[in-house]
Amino acid sequence: MNQSFSLLSLSSTIVVFLVLNSFDYGVNGDLVSDLCKNASTIDPQLKYDFCVAYLSENPASKNAHDLLELGIISMQICLQNATSVHSYIVQILKDGKEIPASKPCLEDCLDLYSDALDSIPEAIQYFKDKDYSSANIEMSAAMDASVTCEDGFKEVVSQYLTSPLTKQDGDFSQLTAISLAITHMF
Ligand SMILES: *[C@@H]1O[C@H](CO)[C@@H](O)[C@H](O)[C@H]1NC(C)=O
Ligand SMILES: *[C@@H]1O[C@H](CO)[C@@H](O)[C@H](O)[C@H]1NC(C)=O
Repeated sequence: MNQSFSLLSLSSTIVVFLVLNSFDYGVNGDLVSDLCKNASTIDPQLKYDFCVAYLSENPASKNAHDLLELGIISMQICLQNATSVHSYIVQILKDGKEIPASKPCLEDCLDLYSDALDSIPEAIQYFKDKDYSSANIEMSAAMDASVTCEDGFKEVVSQYLTSPLTKQDGDFSQLTAISLAITHMF
């Protein structure tokens, strides 16, 4: 009696697990690719493959069931990346191997990414509060960090400076574009 009861509960646990698992998987594969298709239509600069890769790479996406949850996850990905770009710039400045003319640009970029580190959590809070237009303003401000940072290097024309942050700025810009496209859907 006891044994058959535990066998029964074990098998029903397995069934529940399998059902939930396939449900999650099915919903998310579709949700992420659907979202990225729509997002890259809204914003032609946004690359579909990049969107799918970074959203589905994040373990939290597996448990996301709707656009609201994916919106928050995408902003958290932006926050992580801004944090990592920020420390990357700190490291470059600390190493002191940069071309002297690029130092002021790097310092500007550091400030810009610091600001982004303030804007993104505010965007997340607004998004959770369903104030989508304010969330949009904060995420746009964050995205501007990468654009303004990159432009800073282009402005020092006489020095033939190349930005050491092109990849970082480009990635961050794409990541914020995903979040912006999601806030536009609400
Ligand atoms: C994508 O766009 C289609 C067509 O407008 C819409 O029906 C669908 O709900 C959208 N999906 C997502 C995840 O945004
Ligand atoms: C995020 O930030 C780091 C900077 O340290 C960068 O190297 C990385 O490629 C970035 N991009 C993504 C999409 O994670």
